[in-house]
Amino acid sequence: MANGRGTARAGRGEREWSLAVDFGTCFTTAATFGEEAAAGSVGPRSLEIENSRCLPALVCLDDSGALLTGRAAQQRAAHHPDQAERAPKRALARQSAVLLGGRSVPAAELAAAVLRRVCAEARAAHDGRPPARTVLTHPARWGTAERDRLADAADRAGIAAPGFLPEPVAAALHHGRVHAVPEGGAVAVYDLGGGTFDTAVLRRTARGFDTVAVGGDPHLGGEDLDECLRDLLGERAADRDPDPWHDLWEDPGPPAAAQRAALGRELTAAREALSQTGSVDLAVPGYPQPFLIRAHEYRAAAEPLLARTYELLAATVADAGLDAADVHEIVLTGGASRTPRVSDLIAERTGRLPLLSADPKSAVVLGALAALPQAAPPGPEGAAAPAYAGGRVRRYLNPDGDLGFRFTPRP
Ligand SMILES: Nc1ncnc2c1ncn2[C@@H]1O[C@H](COP(=O)(O)OP(=O)(O)OP(=O)(O)O)[C@@H](O)[C@H]1O
Ligand SMILES: [Mg+2]
Repeated sequence: MANGRGTARAGRGEREWSLAVDFGTCFTTAATFGEEAAAGSVGPRSLEIENSRCLPALVCLDDSGALLTGRAAQQRAAHHPDQAERAPKRALARQSAVLLGGRSVPAAELAAAVLRRVCAEARAAHDGRPPARTVLTHPARWGTAERDRLADAADRAGIAAPGFLPEPVAAALHHGRVHAVPEGGAVAVYDLGGGTFDTAVLRRTARGFDTVAVGGDPHLGGEDLDECLRDLLGERAADRDPDPWHDLWEDPGPPAAAQRAALGRELTAAREALSQTGSVDLAVPGYPQPFLIRAHEYRAAAEPLLARTYELLAATVADAGLDAADVHEIVLTGGASRTPRVSDLIAERTGRLPLLSADPKSAVVLGALAALPQAAPPGPEGAAAPAYAGGRVRRYLNPDGDLGFRFTPRP
């Protein structure tokens, strides 16, 4: 250790630090606030793991039964897809356990592997000291059962008394820090990630934001857009020769499983490329020539799904008792909101140009971090943390039974 201490005890000259983690379906991001040993700066800083601010969500069992994360998991999963879970967050939301390589692994343990890795990397940047406080974000539509499983995962990962914050609320808090929102002004958040879609309307108050309405669909995201592209490709393949396509999806053997996983990655990369280019080529096992897919064809295939996201946003704005014209800003976050049709659709339907930041992925984690009380002393050991340490998020039911959140920062 550079300073010879390297323990979890905060000493003279050391400053406590805070951690925010946005546990994502495709990628997990984290940010810290506090003095780092190497960098000597206070932050907020996005945490880099393996030279990237986005840790792939995928986890994979190794031969000893341990769960790998990051590049090691990706490398192994390419050859042992049956031992990998691509989306632990989706597993956490849907079931209590997952079969990996014939073994039942608790979904909370898969999520814990990701959280444990993030925490270990963050601690390593802070002389091994644990964070004084940690906040985890989650989809707005997650109920108690899902949040309890996330809390279980945090516990397994050794995270002491974390706070929890809905993702779109965090995104709006970040927006409010970066852009001026007049008091009384409403911000509508459209957060399309890899596996979840969140909407929220928050109103600026003198001291923070009130969450007026939340909505979305916790089972809709970039993965469903991948399926749109895959169906389009399947139609093309069937026109040319249906047999190799059929074999690819029906063959239960490991080689075909590895080919399906590789095609899945190709589809995601192609879909992202279609945000910038007019066409992509996709090679499919069993076909000597690649398939050319044009952006307008993919757009038509994805239109019903994206139209649905708009309808959900409109429903949340209506729930807030507002019209799109009354909203101060419509903010896009989440990687899949980079799909050009998202902005176009919202602009067409509302006459308003939504705001897509240059880094829509970081808004959630920075928003969660920004609201933590950076200088407050940690609570007594073992004491239960408040639901959200930077202030209070109160949950309430709207008259129509929908869950709402109200955030009031600590003065
Ligand atoms: N340029 C792009 N165009 C279209 N989609 C993109 C682009 N860049 C990233 N994506 C998509 O964004 C998704 C990942 O977004 P993000 O990292 O925000 O999700 P996540 O936080 O992991 O998931 P969630 O919030 O739903 O749990 C992937 O589906 C990815 O393909
Ligand atoms: Mg996300």
